Amino acid sequence: MAMINENYIKLPGSYLFSEIAKRVDAYKAENPDAAIIKLGIGDVTRPLPPAVISSMHKAVDEMADEKTFRGYGPEQGYNFLIEKIIEFDYAPRGISLNIDEVFVSDGSKSDTANFQEIFGLENKIAVTDPVYPVYVDSNVMAGRSGSLGADGKWTDLTYMPCTAENAFIPQLPNEKVDLIYLCFPNNPTGTTISKTELKKWVDYAKDNKSIILYDAAYEAYIQEDDVPHSIYEIEGAKEVAVEFRSFSKNAGFTGTRCSYTVVPKEVLGYTASGEAIELNKLWNRRQTTKFNGVPYIIQKGAEAVYTLEGQQQIKSLVDYYMTNAKIIREGIQSTGIEVFGGVNAPYIWLKTPTGQDSWSFFDKLLHDVNIVGTPGAGFGPSGEGYFRLTAFASKKSTEEAIDRIKTRLKL
Ligand code: MLT
Repeated sequence: MAMINENYIKLPGSYLFSEIAKRVDAYKAENPDAAIIKLGIGDVTRPLPPAVISSMHKAVDEMADEKTFRGYGPEQGYNFLIEKIIEFDYAPRGISLNIDEVFVSDGSKSDTANFQEIFGLENKIAVTDPVYPVYVDSNVMAGRSGSLGADGKWTDLTYMPCTAENAFIPQLPNEKVDLIYLCFPNNPTGTTISKTELKKWVDYAKDNKSIILYDAAYEAYIQEDDVPHSIYEIEGAKEVAVEFRSFSKNAGFTGTRCSYTVVPKEVLGYTASGEAIELNKLWNRRQTTKFNGVPYIIQKGAEAVYTLEGQQQIKSLVDYYMTNAKIIREGIQSTGIEVFGGVNAPYIWLKTPTGQDSWSFFDKLLHDVNIVGTPGAGFGPSGEGYFRLTAFASKKSTEEAIDRIKTRLKL
């Protein structure tokens, strides 16, 4: 008899964004003429930058010629891309990394979900609340969560509420935790953390031999000074942090899939007998067993992000979406609704008006003005009473959405 991993049946019926898609499809089936504007899932809409496309075309031609054809590449990624990552994303910030500390992968979603595999089940997990659901769900699947309480919290996870009351800055937990998921600029709140605040987490991790799993997928959106782009800007972080970065949001790779994860050799985990083990070795072992690398064509595309044209083109992509963020932020503010984020991130987090719960506001927005957003409660109990809009639609749709909210939404 085939027994299942029963942790899977503890999970809510569907992943947040699948649930939203289901509700939108049901509405569309009943209202086929509705002109729906999607500001829900954080998926980019602008095409890949020309430098990326041209590099991919060349790579396709190489694959057509037996002299330049390539089969399996290194599971960790090609050196031509890793060298550029280190040179452009880390060296200018005074961070030195070795080639074998960067692992190219097919997405920060998969890496943040998979990374927990190299840790024991007894680890205590801390997440911010609200949180990107992947961190929680992957730990539920692994069996670290306990059960889901009536308060919407998993009994064995430690939640660090991030609300307007604490300016969306997670406070150090009172209990000892082993693995800490942090995401800055934050998904879903669009808010950031200062170097001083982040240093507290690095110090906590050092004091407690904990590990910080730092998701920096939105770092390209940072506009203000004193906002760290990488956790390794904080002294000591290379001993306690793993960092996830992505080409999805800065270069439009959501459908193309390319990201990378930095695992410095200094980061250590421990066996039950207290022996220190490099996480880098474990992650390398995991990746070489379960992953065969990102396709050559895609990595050549990612490499082009680091050319002069590539850098200019991704900057204008980010500027484009940040213009949308400003339109949303200012437009929503003008209706009297309280707004957060959207300054260093492509997400705008708002307080649902008149005390509505997040899912009621989702329905209202969809039904009254045909706009899709994401209910804050979908990201965790402290997201209740909040709502997320993304800046990733076209400028025209963004303007239209804000116009509808201002003129047609009855609060
Ligand atoms: C989101 O909307 O939160 C995004 O889809 C996150 C992701 O990149 O998976």
